[in-house]
Amino acid sequence: MAEHPAYPVGLRLSGRRVVVLGAGQVAQRRLPALIAAGADIVLVSPEATPSVEAMADAGEITWVRRRYEDGDLAAAWYALIATSDPDANTAASAEAERHRVWCVRSDDADRATAWTPATGHSEGVTVAVLTTEARGRDPRHTAAIRDAVVEGLRDGTLVAPHHRTRTPGVALVGGGPGDPDLITVRGRRLLAEADVVIADRLGPRDLLAELPPHVEVIDAAKIPYGRYMAQEAINSALIEHAKQGKSVVRLKGGDPFVFGRGMEEVQALAEAGIPCTVVPGISSSISVPGAAGIPVTHRGVAHEFTVVSGHVAPDDERSLADWPSLAKLTGTLVILMGVDKIGKIAETLVAHGKSPNTPVALVQEGTTAAQRRVDATLATVAETVRTEDVKAPAVIVIGEVVTVGPQPLA
Ligand SMILES: C[S@@+](CC[C@H](N)C(=O)[O-])C[C@H]1O[C@@H](n2cnc3c(N)ncnc32)[C@H](O)[C@@H]1O
Repeated sequence: MAEHPAYPVGLRLSGRRVVVLGAGQVAQRRLPALIAAGADIVLVSPEATPSVEAMADAGEITWVRRRYEDGDLAAAWYALIATSDPDANTAASAEAERHRVWCVRSDDADRATAWTPATGHSEGVTVAVLTTEARGRDPRHTAAIRDAVVEGLRDGTLVAPHHRTRTPGVALVGGGPGDPDLITVRGRRLLAEADVVIADRLGPRDLLAELPPHVEVIDAAKIPYGRYMAQEAINSALIEHAKQGKSVVRLKGGDPFVFGRGMEEVQALAEAGIPCTVVPGISSSISVPGAAGIPVTHRGVAHEFTVVSGHVAPDDERSLADWPSLAKLTGTLVILMGVDKIGKIAETLVAHGKSPNTPVALVQEGTTAAQRRVDATLATVAETVRTEDVKAPAVIVIGEVVTVGPQPLA
């Protein structure tokens, strides 16, 4: 075959017959994309890997349990030839040529009439990378280029503004617990596209340093609030910037709806008629214990976990938590914003029936370079917090799960 470059094209296979010969690793890797494309897939193979078999059981493909026979490709629009029998592959590609069916061959790219590119997806775009020539094809190199492009689009290091779809408004983005790698792909992309970012003290602050110079970064804690409450001042800053036609990201620690006042911001934006999207985040309530080696549930130990705010003491009339009932739960208690009040909290839990020996761990600044874990029991935690000088932000975990991980912790 002449050494011309391949002509790239996107096949629209929905409802069209695609014949796959062979059901080994190659077919297993390629089938999901063919299924996603809506192809009418006929698989011809005497055996199949368990995953391919599961696709047949689920009705995603039609499996003909025999070897390839001449005529199998007659009604196909496209064929994937990947049997372990080189003679069958040769015969099948000759048949494909005869019927003018484009075919890829797993064993001999040179004799194929089509090549499968390395593909990836990001926000409605498919990135497909092909080498120019069959000889010297280097699948790892094409895959690496694909990865670099897709990763770049996802994390915002490759900025491709959405000229048609980008609308002004506010994105409420959960930034995760602090490690910049723990924000979602969507959150990171929105951050890269923002004109204005209003950020909290908690969350992935390192990401702010990476933003291009034209992005205005506002520290939510420093917005002057005069006659307003701080939250009202943040709401009106969001509204004001969005009304100027800017893309605004409200970057919050953890998840916006876990003690994050996210819904108050959503409501204020709705009242002002500003479009708002919410991007969930990894909450510190689960991820920070995990980062310190503590699972919030564990088989045979804890079948539930309860996340409670400890920002007011149990005897404070503003507290909405039912501490006597919490003391009776057998699972894990996770307390956020509780460092200052942990003495009172521990006392109340013990007074209502929890054992004073119940293990407690405090994880300060979890997932950041400054992470540290301090262990105690309900009886000793108040004193430990003082002597060890534990400071907010910290997640407090109470329950037997504290001791199930390997000790000492890495
Ligand atoms: C106002 S709440 C916000 C929670 C956040 N929306 C979430 O889902 O993680 C703040 C509390 O979260 C906890 N927190 C958040 N990030 C943390 C981190 N990296 N390490 C320890 N605790 C953290 C602390 O208990 C802190 O006082």
